[in-house]
Amino acid sequence: MNFPNHVTLVDVGPRDGLQNEKEPVSTAHKAQLVAMLQGAGLKEIEVTSFVSPKWVPQMADNAAVMAAIERQPGVRYSVLTPNMKGLESALLTRPDEVVVFAAASEAFSQKNINCSIAESIERFAPVVEAAHAAGIKVRGALSCAVGCPYEGDISADQVERVVLLMKAIGVDHLGVADTIGVGTPRKVQAAMERALKHYPLVEVSGHFHDTYGQALANIYACLELGVHHFDTSVAGLGGCPYAKGATGNVASEDVVFMLNGLGIETGIDLDKLVDAGAFISGVLGRPPVSRVARALLAKRAG
Ligand code: HMG
Ligand code: MG
Repeated sequence: MNFPNHVTLVDVGPRDGLQNEKEPVSTAHKAQLVAMLQGAGLKEIEVTSFVSPKWVPQMADNAAVMAAIERQPGVRYSVLTPNMKGLESALLTRPDEVVVFAAASEAFSQKNINCSIAESIERFAPVVEAAHAAGIKVRGALSCAVGCPYEGDISADQVERVVLLMKAIGVDHLGVADTIGVGTPRKVQAAMERALKHYPLVEVSGHFHDTYGQALANIYACLELGVHHFDTSVAGLGGCPYAKGATGNVASEDVVFMLNGLGIETGIDLDKLVDAGAFISGVLGRPPVSRVARALLAKRAG
């Protein structure tokens, strides 16, 4: 067992968490969420995405959000960029990292970004090149790495094929994503192992949606492999517009509680994280999905 001593969490709540919200969330509230997350000790925050506002209206204020956040030294602010148009707009807002996102399944690639896997890689190649020329790191998200809402089961071979394509165009970091939360620990390990065949441990991360309640177990399974970088979403916000029924990412609060219990450092203050989740849940008018947040808020109230 090579359990890590320290785990880095990327809070993707402002992006993955909010992208699916039907009612507009104001730019000021998004910026306030980012402020509270960095105040809680998050060192990596996925702020927004530079995608088509017709496809994802909630992210239409991407540049305004990037302008509104008060950047803290030592915090890495990332944004999604599916193509050169997205990258060009993103670069004007000075992100620390950009994210390209491919899928292990052809059907999901078509639904999510309107092109085949091969075409997506062709679109990403100049994005990676231009980002690198600007001194910006590129993270690659690999969606549907264990299952697809349209194609069903996804094999580790399908995962490895896209890992190799991402590697070939120079993507620096590979995030293995269970978009619809159907993964179970051994299946997730099998996908993760294919990423680890081609990327070093420090450049691999897990992104688990909690639709079937397996995300904490899947993170634990990745910890067993030594993986120490995970995307999580404060309050358990989110879902993907192109994956019906998929819930949010695993809640940041739940992951921090588990890691605290395991004696693994995150540098995150759980109470302040709960405040951030309570804040954005208040804006959305519903309680946090996070079990830990609910328990701690009930304890505070009592
Ligand atoms: P398209 O329609 O194929 O693109 O969309 P196009 O190049 O043919 O352009 C069509 C129109 O879109 C044009 O505008 C372009 O200017 C515009 P028009 O002339 O009709 O007015 N356009 C853009 N506008 C703003 N920003 C851009 C951009 N690109 C083109 N970057 C595209 C292709 C990828 C843009 C589209 O399919 C899209 O935006 N899809 C949304 C993808 C998305 O945001 N999905 C959710 C995030 S991924 C996710 O959640 C999974 C993840 O969390 C990991 C996991 O859980 O699996 C990362
Ligand atoms: Mg996601």
